[in-house]
Amino acid sequence: MNRIETIWTIPKPQSLDGLDALLQRVADACFQAEGIGDCGFTIRFVDGKAIQNLNREMRGIDQETDVLSFPTVDYPAGKTARSCPKRLRREYLPAEGYTYLGDCAINLNRAAAQAAEYGHSLKREIAYLTAHSAFHLMGYDHMNEEEKKLMRGMEEKALSALGIIREGGIDCDALFESACEAMKRAYCPYSRFQVGACILADDGRTFQGCNFENASYGATICAERCATGNAIVNGARRFKAIAVVGSTAVAWPCGMCRQVLREFSDLSLPVIVGAYGKGYTVKTLGELLPEALSPEDLGVDVNDPSGIRD
Ligand code: THU
Repeated sequence: MNRIETIWTIPKPQSLDGLDALLQRVADACFQAEGIGDCGFTIRFVDGKAIQNLNREMRGIDQETDVLSFPTVDYPAGKTARSCPKRLRREYLPAEGYTYLGDCAINLNRAAAQAAEYGHSLKREIAYLTAHSAFHLMGYDHMNEEEKKLMRGMEEKALSALGIIREGGIDCDALFESACEAMKRAYCPYSRFQVGACILADDGRTFQGCNFENASYGATICAERCATGNAIVNGARRFKAIAVVGSTAVAWPCGMCRQVLREFSDLSLPVIVGAYGKGYTVKTLGELLPEALSPEDLGVDVNDPSGIRD
């Protein structure tokens, strides 16, 4: 089991409820990207002044920064965690059952400013900074262009597996929350299984959907197709992500919905699926529907207003 611990030296804003679960998923994805397991680290949330003091004391740089990382392992030049099993073993805490990779400090003031600058949530900025720090704790750095490219690549690998991308990205938590809200409006007296969805269009708009059933069972429409229809009638044709939630179990999209999603998105579409109150996982549409007939196969351009090409 991996393990992160958060320490608050400043008041924790209410908007950060559920942050620990998100950061645990971030750490899991980072360790998985590196190919290591049973690891952990500590994240300390501080203000601008405190991080400047730390930066001066530990690195001799009297400047405020966004994040500082302090690895326990001394990695040889050019080596990262996956190729240093012996050094990692020295940091293993038998009582805890994991390898302690070190600690980091995140400047909440700077994180909030960066979140506003990138136009995404504070939670997402903290997720990004945590991933950045996790890779520092695994021996990555960005002193030259080559190192920087490698580190960025690893960060992207981990974060995109979670559907978190820093720029023009996807706020999975917000989409999932919106799907949960839509779920409460489902009409499902026959199955009693409420499903909600929220689809993100390429222009940034989001559209909700819920399942609505029928006395003639086969006339039922799933939440995903409801959300897609809601988007189409409002002029959206291409999508960046969809979140789906089931009331009592994970609402894996049915085969028909997978095919409908493929009509308006390519196979890289992140599909955020979960159960109410139990969190979510992120798959790509390609994982759910690896081979699919597409509009392109039939010479159709879905961006064409009528969908018909002469
Ligand atoms: N359902 C959805 O809305 N989406 C899914 O991803 C799976 C199934 C609905 C259809 C029906 O109203 C109920 O769940 C039980 O199958």
